Amino acid sequence: MKYYKIITYGCQMNEHESEKLSGILENLGYNLTGSDELADVIVFNTCCIRENAEQRAYGNIGALKRLKKANKNKIIAVGGCMPQQKDKAEILRDKFPFIDIIFGTHNLADFERLLKQRLEKGKKFIEISNDEYSIKECSFVKRSTYPSAYVNVMYGCNNFCSYCIVPYVRGRERSRNPEDILAEVKTLVESGYKEINLLGQNVDSYGKDLNPKVEFSTLLSRVAEIDGKFRIRFISNHPKDINENVAKTIKKYDKICNSIHFPVQSGSTKILGLMNRKYTREEYLEKIDMLRRIVPDIKITTDIMVGFPMELEDDFNDTLSLVEKVEFDGAFTFVYSPRSGTKAYSMDGHIDEKIKKERIVKLVDLQNSINRKIASKYLGKTLEILVDEFNLEQQIYIGRDEGGKVVHFNSDKNVVGEFVSIRITKASGISLYGEIV
Ligand code: 5AD
Ligand code: SF4
Repeated sequence: MKYYKIITYGCQMNEHESEKLSGILENLGYNLTGSDELADVIVFNTCCIRENAEQRAYGNIGALKRLKKANKNKIIAVGGCMPQQKDKAEILRDKFPFIDIIFGTHNLADFERLLKQRLEKGKKFIEISNDEYSIKECSFVKRSTYPSAYVNVMYGCNNFCSYCIVPYVRGRERSRNPEDILAEVKTLVESGYKEINLLGQNVDSYGKDLNPKVEFSTLLSRVAEIDGKFRIRFISNHPKDINENVAKTIKKYDKICNSIHFPVQSGSTKILGLMNRKYTREEYLEKIDMLRRIVPDIKITTDIMVGFPMELEDDFNDTLSLVEKVEFDGAFTFVYSPRSGTKAYSMDGHIDEKIKKERIVKLVDLQNSINRKIASKYLGKTLEILVDEFNLEQQIYIGRDEGGKVVHFNSDKNVVGEFVSIRITKASGISLYGEIV
């Protein structure tokens, strides 16, 4: 038997790309393992969005030196966003000369060829292309997130937010053909998947590059018209681009979850300008009003960053006041991390690490109190839950409602992948517990 292991860092886009790499490896006869010792091929699918993602990868790759020394035939491959950055592949090679293959985000679909090249020719190599405009599809995807499945609607990003490395490592926006997307969703639903997660760096730009153009809302309604009981989610929307048609489509179709991930980044118009987000605090709040007017029970989550260059106390207070005002159903909070090659990297006014830390603690505290307040409102409610997993450690089933709220409950029979009705009996902090009704 031949074995492989994949270590994934970063976003859902990356998780899905690891599923594509798994597909390639399983087609070649490799079996998944969690063991570094057993694995004949170990792939690191890396992220570079923040410094700590890179540091973790460096640590984990370095830890394999001993194993590679003991077994020269073990193949170690490092791919994805990290080596796609300027000069990073060479840095990786110099730091870890034992890596066999270093490949970029645009070389993922070639992984079969890359692996064979290494096995047959025996030479270590780097393959990073700058093919920023094309789409290379993978024919087989080994999915790992049942009952949920990822489907790319587009690749790349054109926004160039001044803090963000993504446009540099993932190329320009390019949309998949709607017929390909619909065919993939149909196959997934027919084979039992209950949740389709449409992926794009900025789904509101979907279809602008197609001929004829297609609106994201049109794609959404076509996905929702596919037969079968399943949920539709999508990430991420951009406040500058979202329009009422998206909200109306969410409202119109039961299958589309009343839920949206709507990254704000900052509550200060000054900082938003420096970030090149192309909306003001007021415009963001207007979009929130629009979403809540059209879809009154919509759940809204966000991404927020603290410590961007030039963020003064007043700017940070604007972020806190926006968070208080909107009462997000959830927030991913980040400390700004300078990324070489981005505009913000060379801006003046970088913020002291100590201040950044104080700000993130304040922000997290505020959001936690909102989370607790929101969680307590669920007490006594009955929700339709799609069951994701049975957690062996806690001996409990875990699922989510359409708003994305995680719910824990017991069941006598296996209900993973099913929709069940759960009445919420306990809200402990932000965790919800309930029982089947
Ligand atoms: N530093 C910190 N957070 C970042 N993000 C993107 N780039 C950076 C950076 N340089 C955050 C943004 C984005 C999320 C995916 O990651 O909030 O929405
Ligand atoms: Fe995802 Fe961005 Fe990280 Fe790449 S750099 S894995 S696109 S979050």
